[in-house]
Amino acid sequence: KTVSLIGAPTDVGASVRGAGMGPDALRVAGLYEMLRGHGLNVIDHGNLAGPPTPWTPPTAGVRHLEEVVAWNRAVFDRVAAVLAAGQVPLLMGGDHCLAIGSVSAVARHCRYAKKKLRVIWLDAHSDVNNPHISPSGNVHGMPVSCLLGDGPKPLVGWSGEPAAITPADIDFIGIRSVDAHEKQAIAQLGLQVFDMRHIDEHGMRNTMLEALHDVDEDTHLHVSFDLDCLDPTDAPGVGTGVRGGPTYREMQLCMEMIADTGRMGSLDVVEINPALDVRNRTAELAVEFVASLFGASTLAR
Ligand code: ARG
Ligand code: MN
Ligand code: MN
Ligand code: MN
Repeated sequence: KTVSLIGAPTDVGASVRGAGMGPDALRVAGLYEMLRGHGLNVIDHGNLAGPPTPWTPPTAGVRHLEEVVAWNRAVFDRVAAVLAAGQVPLLMGGDHCLAIGSVSAVARHCRYAKKKLRVIWLDAHSDVNNPHISPSGNVHGMPVSCLLGDGPKPLVGWSGEPAAITPADIDFIGIRSVDAHEKQAIAQLGLQVFDMRHIDEHGMRNTMLEALHDVDEDTHLHVSFDLDCLDPTDAPGVGTGVRGGPTYREMQLCMEMIADTGRMGSLDVVEINPALDVRNRTAELAVEFVASLFGASTLAR
């Protein structure tokens, strides 16, 4: 198996500056070496190029639309090329708006490869805003809507279909911050949101059994891992931290159960903000969890 690392050094969709340093933080934390150590073939494609973040206020409910499109176009093209080469793309963000490009490329690939796409969205936030309802205009709060076919026109339809995914294709884990209009959207769309209360009441094991129940041998599993899913005491280097996240142990189990399916075909690691971090702790934590996603385990298996 070959894993291709793709750096997208931008904070274009974020509210706070600094997520653009995420790719190098992951490299410094030893992402490449860790994957090699697990017997994987790894290619670091270096960083994609794109426009600087202008830090202008929203226009028609969206911030930096032109620049968000440019970055996502670069991500889409590279993820598509990596998938076409039969490799596993690992997108190193960058903020979470980049999932528009990566998941759109994955969705297009799945249609050609006749695979069933399932997305696991690990996040404190549901990211299902759109320009009409977003309180901030930041596109990192809108990627799920764009992928469902409801977003700014230039960010919709990239997979070749009006929507890259349907509501049934995505499961959310760890959610604990949902804006007022997002709550309505979640209910109307019937999205499967396993919020922190669900994890508290049912445990991570049952939650993941539910989330992964329809993964079979024809499934391509895409994991979109926003580091703010974790508790900020463990992962301080994020721009929009929310307390009350899954514990380290719960998150490890989540990753291990995803790995056990053997179906993860692509991964986003986003929202690491080294400017807010403590001695690169958040990137190092991300590397540990990515190791588990690729099958690291305490005992021989
Ligand atoms: N819901 C808030 C917003 O739309 C925060 C989104 C945070 N998203 C993220 N990927 N960290 O502005
Ligand atoms: Mn988030
Ligand atoms: Mn499901
Ligand atoms: Mn997110």
